[in-house]
Amino acid sequence: MQEDAYLKCVNPKCALEYPIYSTNVQCENGHVLDVIYQNEPSTKLKNTFYERRNSKGSIFNESGIWRFRELLNFCQIDTENIDECSKYLVSLDGAEGRQSKPYRMSKAAEFLGINSDGLWLQPEGYNPSGSFKDNGMVTAVTHAKMVGAKKIICASTGNTSASAGMFAANEGIDCDVYIPAGQIAPGKLSQAYQFGAQIIEVEGNFDDALKQSLDDAKNHNGYTVNSVNPFRIEGQKTIPFRALEYLDWESPDWIVYPGGALGNTSSCGKALMELYEWGWIKKIPRIAVINSDGASTLSDLYNGKFEDEELRWNKGNPNTELISKYYDHMEKEGIRPKTKATAIQIGKPANILKGLRALEFTNGVATTVTDTEMLDGMAVVGLNGFDCEMASGASVAGIKKLVSEEIIKKDDTVVGILTGRQKDAMIPVDYHKNPKNIFSHPPKI
Ligand code: F0G
Repeated sequence: MQEDAYLKCVNPKCALEYPIYSTNVQCENGHVLDVIYQNEPSTKLKNTFYERRNSKGSIFNESGIWRFRELLNFCQIDTENIDECSKYLVSLDGAEGRQSKPYRMSKAAEFLGINSDGLWLQPEGYNPSGSFKDNGMVTAVTHAKMVGAKKIICASTGNTSASAGMFAANEGIDCDVYIPAGQIAPGKLSQAYQFGAQIIEVEGNFDDALKQSLDDAKNHNGYTVNSVNPFRIEGQKTIPFRALEYLDWESPDWIVYPGGALGNTSSCGKALMELYEWGWIKKIPRIAVINSDGASTLSDLYNGKFEDEELRWNKGNPNTELISKYYDHMEKEGIRPKTKATAIQIGKPANILKGLRALEFTNGVATTVTDTEMLDGMAVVGLNGFDCEMASGASVAGIKKLVSEEIIKKDDTVVGILTGRQKDAMIPVDYHKNPKNIFSHPPKI
């Protein structure tokens, strides 16, 4: 493969390569793909990225994604040439990622029992569609445009569909979204309608919706924008890029994410692998993935809770049979993922292999939290003047749990990602009406 950027199967024994214009989300043996860059971006770009924060009128400098465009140059364009950028790069006028950076939240730090100088929480909910999905959707839709796709397709617990619908509307392409009927937040569903997406209600859960959307994409020439699409992962790398840039490229000890389909975990892992290999960072932060205890596939498998085997990437030889057995067991026993945090109500994380690779590279951990813990996490973020949804509360709750278990040390530097903004208005209302909740503020009557 001669091009600078190309696609490569993640399985080292298979390692099949495809041109960058390929729309396959898997190799012919069914393994997921990575975008690979042959050229090593110079660390001098750190300065360029910093200087672009004075955008000088360019939306591609203003964008928190395209500001880092040399590190995701799968379009293989001259990144300094704004006219050329305009022809290729999709952007909502530079708004995606523009407001995202880590913030200190002292009340959260106090609640977590961690040194407040070391705790950073990065709200991704102030993206234009209200979640971190915009980071990866701009890149996926850029690739869709590159290959001339007329229709993008996704399954979603809500935020992906809002983001896909928004960028599709802006680009004038069609968008079909498959949602588990009755299981997504009303605010997310209303966004998909508002942006003109075609909603397909699937009887079942997210896992069923994803299966149907992937089948329909194949049969009806749709372009899949779920995080199994390797170009989604490229854009989501900018979440850790922004955190690291803010910390002067000094790695924190931990980066903490809620775990659903594991696109975030995968993209953070890939970002760190590349930055380390390219000499941009000297230390590898550890990734912590926080599942809901009602949708805990990764945590169960990683921690040996199923058949006593701790599932690992194992240098590219994971025991995939164990994953299949776990899914069969779920089917047979009628176990369905169940949490009030519907964003992460996912039983079969599509990116589990890349997620395991990320955990292996970063010596990461996976754990679970309860719905109540997530709600408390969400509530304490609110008390710092920031808004996030319940699933994002998993990052906060997960840090608390890992601090109490002394896995995260009190003086560690921790970046927790707050993945999305509140789109289910009654969740905080119900939380605060209940005087039993730690942070509740019941109304006066
Ligand atoms: N947080 C929020 C707010 C989400 O919407 C999601 C996933 C996650 C965390 C989990 O992230 O999948 O990268 O592990 N939402 C997807 C959707 C599945 O369809 O909107 P992940």
